[in-house]
Amino acid sequence: MQPARFISFEGIDGSGKSTQARLLADRLSRDGHAVLLTREPGGSAGAEEIRNLLLTGDTGRWSAETEILLFTAARRDHLEKTIEPALAAGKMVITDRFADSTRVYQGATRGDLRATVDRLHQLMIGREPDLTVLIDMDPATALRRGLARRSGEDRFEDMGLGFQETLRHGFLALAHEARERVVVIDGNRSPDEVAAEVAAQVQARA
Ligand code: ADP
Ligand code: TYD
Repeated sequence: MQPARFISFEGIDGSGKSTQARLLADRLSRDGHAVLLTREPGGSAGAEEIRNLLLTGDTGRWSAETEILLFTAARRDHLEKTIEPALAAGKMVITDRFADSTRVYQGATRGDLRATVDRLHQLMIGREPDLTVLIDMDPATALRRGLARRSGEDRFEDMGLGFQETLRHGFLALAHEARERVVVIDGNRSPDEVAAEVAAQVQARA
C-alpha cells in the first residue's frame, strides 16, 4: 500500500468534505507534518478563474462534455502549479475533491460519459491520490446543508435531489471499483466522530 501523502475528499454537495478536509489538515499539522490544504475546482490562480465559469449561472450553461474539458483544464493547472510542487517539497497534500468528482458528476449523471472522462484523465492528469475519503451522506440532509450556505456557487445543487441521489450511487459504485484507494465513511454523525474515523484511516496508511 502507498503511504498516504496525497489525500482527496469526495462526496455529494454538503456532505461535510470541506469540514473534514480542514479538520484532517489541522490534525496532521499539529502532529508536525507540513500540510497543504487545497480544493477543486480551483487551488491555483488559473483554476480558480475556471471555477467561477463552472459554478455560477444556469444549470444548462454547459453540457456534461464541455464540463469534462473545463474541470480537466482546471485540474491540470492545479496539479502543475500547486499539487506537484507541494509533494516535491515533502508536504502532505489534502484536496477537497479531485478526479473522482469528474468521474461521477460528469461521467455518470447525464448519460454514460465515463470512458471519455477516463481517457482525458489518462492523457492530461495521469495520477490518483494515495487515499480517497468518500464521505457518504443522505442526499436530502446534505442538500439542505449545502443550500443553507447560499454560497452563490450552487449550479450543481440547483440540479435537485434526484441528481444528488444519482451522485451518491455513482460515488458508492466508484468506491467499490477502487477499493484499494477509496474508503467510505458514514457522514451522518457529528463532525468530531467523522473526523476520528478519518484520522484512523489515514494513520493506518502512514
Ligand atoms: P461540503 O464541502 O461537502 O459541501 P461542508 O463541510 O461545507 O460540506 O458542510 C456543509 C454544511 O454542513 C456546513 O454548513 C457545515 O458546517 C455543516 N456540516 C458539516 N459537517 C457536518 C456534520 N457532521 N453534521 C452537521 N453539519 C455539518
Ligand atoms: P465544491 O465547492 O466542493 O461544492 P460543495 O461544497 O457543494 O460540495 O465543488 C463545487 C461543485 O463542482 C460541486 O457541486 C461538484 C462540482 N464538481 C464537478 O461537477 N466535477 C468536478 O470534477 C469537480 C472537482 C467538482
